[in-house]
Amino acid sequence: MDRLEITGGVRLEGDVAISGAKNATLPVLAATLLTDAPVSVSNVPHLNDVTTMIALLRRLGIDVAMHDAMRLEVGGGEAREHVAPYELVKTMRASILVLGPLLARLGRADVSLPGGCAIGARPVNIHVAGLKAMGAEVDIEGGYIRARAERLRGARLVLDTVTVTGTENLLMAATLARGESVIENAAREPEIMDLAALLTAMGARIEGAGTDTIHVQGVDTLGGASHRIMADRIETGTYLAAGAITGGRVRALGARPDTLDAVLAKLVEAGADVSVGDDWIELSMDGRRPRAVDLVTAPYPGFPTDMQAQFCALNAVADGAATITETVFENRFQHVLEMQRMGADFRLQGRTAVSRGVAGLKGAPVMATDLRASASLVLAALVADGVSQVERIYHIDRGYERIEEKLGRLGARIQRLHD
Ligand code: UD1
Repeated sequence: MDRLEITGGVRLEGDVAISGAKNATLPVLAATLLTDAPVSVSNVPHLNDVTTMIALLRRLGIDVAMHDAMRLEVGGGEAREHVAPYELVKTMRASILVLGPLLARLGRADVSLPGGCAIGARPVNIHVAGLKAMGAEVDIEGGYIRARAERLRGARLVLDTVTVTGTENLLMAATLARGESVIENAAREPEIMDLAALLTAMGARIEGAGTDTIHVQGVDTLGGASHRIMADRIETGTYLAAGAITGGRVRALGARPDTLDAVLAKLVEAGADVSVGDDWIELSMDGRRPRAVDLVTAPYPGFPTDMQAQFCALNAVADGAATITETVFENRFQHVLEMQRMGADFRLQGRTAVSRGVAGLKGAPVMATDLRASASLVLAALVADGVSQVERIYHIDRGYERIEEKLGRLGARIQRLHD
């Protein structure tokens, strides 16, 4: 298994090119199941989760051609299969995104239940309840969600909890339903707007994506389209946090500042100078030590849970005490225990991590069992004294494209070790 070896203590300086967003690419690829026509998708990041989604589409009988590193041509033929098997779904929970499109397009879908996850229970009850409200018959059999519906019908769906992939699944299903659907308490994440932009280009009739109420007028068929994936706001936030934690200066190019308000506000509160243009963000610390910041995670436009771990790393070495409260997932503080092994001073109280910043961390072998937690350990290693090895980096490869290359260009002493 690959590891990253990092020697800490370098101030990061320079430009970093931001990739297309993982969490926009996955629903966009699932949406190609809604049409027989080809869909061209550009700015696709080269990530393990994207490879898994491509493998899943191929398993469903869809052609996927890779034109160059970042452009895919998907489909141009009907899905022949309706089964998303356990071997693929278990490696990536977001595989559940094929449920709505398959059911809407083929009238049937058997999708393996994703099962537990390292960051909490993560059920899919809201996805299932929404499809049932649209007239689907849904059973759980042998670990699979088995959904059937000759044609879904539009319905008013009031989501119990704000769920990102739940909103996306139901939005995709509603595009081909008979009549109008209204999704209330919808997630407002920018990735939902990205998906809605593709669906609209395919001929769907959608209003209100990006707000908490989405109206969809179902249509009979959808056509082909071309779509460019939006910039990854979590990758952007992670590199900016890396700049802040090392006292450096990082300019993120090809970014979407309008999707990062909550994160940029916290970086400024931590003492960073932040300036933005249309598609870039520059953060400068000028050698200053960051100040600790209190924060509470929440659905968009609140502070993203996917940036929580990186800010734990920041608070670990910042000046002062602070609290970070996780409200979206119930078990998302594993990284804190690993950072303690590097000398961080944290106390966990239920869903809150209370930190007292230390002057320096010490390098150590560390590992984590989820994507953002692994990234936060890389950040901690960048400021730690001496050498750290971050193990199990297949988690990082699920969501960060060529992280060692991008950090290396910013001056980090980092290398990938192959066992
Ligand atoms: C998505 C993101 C993930 C991010 C998360 C929260 C993708 C591919 N992944 O995950 O990176 O961390 O949003 O911003 O976009 N819930 C239920 N029932 C359901 C569905 C969800 O109770 O049917 C709960 C979950 O347990 C969790 C909360 O809702 O507590 C939010 O989860 P959700 O927004 O669904 O996360 P994902 O869409 O899986």
